[in-house]
Amino acid sequence: MAIRQDTIWERFLSPVVRLLIDEQSLRRYAESVDWEKESANFRRDDVTIPSYYTSQNFHGIEGGYLNRSAAVSYDPITQYVVPPNETWVRQALIDAIRVQPRRILDLGCGTGSTTLMLKQAFPQAQVIGLDLSPYMLVRAEHKAQSANLDITWRHGNAEKTVFKDASFDLVTASLLFHETPPTVAQAILHESFRLLVEGGQVLILDGNQNTLRQLEWLNDVFEEPYIRDYAAGSLDASMGAAGFAAVQTQDVWWINQVTSGVKPILRENTIKISVGQYAPTTDTTIDNNDLEDFGSPAFGTKA
Ligand SMILES: C[S@@+](CC[C@H](N)C(=O)[O-])C[C@H]1O[C@@H](n2cnc3c(N)ncnc32)[C@H](O)[C@@H]1O
Repeated sequence: MAIRQDTIWERFLSPVVRLLIDEQSLRRYAESVDWEKESANFRRDDVTIPSYYTSQNFHGIEGGYLNRSAAVSYDPITQYVVPPNETWVRQALIDAIRVQPRRILDLGCGTGSTTLMLKQAFPQAQVIGLDLSPYMLVRAEHKAQSANLDITWRHGNAEKTVFKDASFDLVTASLLFHETPPTVAQAILHESFRLLVEGGQVLILDGNQNTLRQLEWLNDVFEEPYIRDYAAGSLDASMGAAGFAAVQTQDVWWINQVTSGVKPILRENTIKISVGQYAPTTDTTIDNNDLEDFGSPAFGTKA
C-alpha cells in the first residue's frame, strides 16, 4: 500500500495558521448557532451532492464543506492563504466588471466574501449566492446580516442550477474553479453561458494558471485535490469552448488571475434593439422562494 506523503500544508502551514486564529472566539460563534436548524432553512432536497465534492479535504478544511466546522474556519484560514491581501484580490474581480448589472449570481459563493462585495458595489442589484453547502450559506447569511446587506442565498449545484435561461447579466465565481475537476469546471461555464443575457459577463477569479504551472511546488503547498488539473488547463480556452467571446485573463498580484468573458449578442437581437422592439422587464422584485421564475433582466454597459 502506498504511504501517503503529508503535504507542506499539513506539516508546516496548517499549524502556523492555527496559531494565528483566535480559536476561542470561533468556538463561541460555532456554539452560538443552531447549525442543523439554520442550515435546514437553505437545504433543498432536490440538490444532489456530486461525489468529487465529498471525497476530499480542501486546503485543510477536513471533510470538505458539508459541515459546520468548514463554515466557521473557512474565513479565518482564507485570509492567510490568499496573498498578498484577500480583499485586494477579491476587489480585482469587482474592478473587472464591465456591465451595469441588475441581477448577479455568485457561484460557489461559500461564506459570501465576494458576494458581499458585489452587493456593496451594486446596491440596487439583486444578488444571489449559490453553494452546495448549506452550512457555508448559514455563515454567509450571518455576514450579510451584520453588514446589513440583502442577499439571497441558494442551495444548489453550479453545474446545473434551477434558474431560467438569461436570468442574469453578471455571473461570477471566486476560488471555485481550482476545487473542481475539469469536466465540472466546463459544465459550470456552460451553465453560466445559459444563465446570462446576451451581452452579459462572466468573471472567474482564481489561482493564476501560468504561475501554478511554473511553480509546481506551489501545488503541493495546499491540500487541493484538483489544483494540478486546474493549473494545466486554460480558462481562456474553456470559456471559448463554452461560447464566450472577448475572453481575457489578467494577472492579479501574480498568484491569482481574473478571467472575463462576454456572451455574444446575436445579430438578430441587435437589430431588434436598434429598431426599439426590445422590451426589457421593469419588474425588479424577486420572490426568494421562487427564483425559477426569474425574467430576463435589462442590461446596460458602463460608459
Ligand atoms: C474555496 S471555496 C470559495 C468560496 C467563495 N467563493 C470565496 O471566494 O471565498 C469553494 C466553494 O465552492 C463550493 N462548491 C464547490 N463545488 C460546487 C458546485 N458544483 N456548485 C456549487 N458550489 C460548489 C464549495 O461548497 C465552497 O463553498
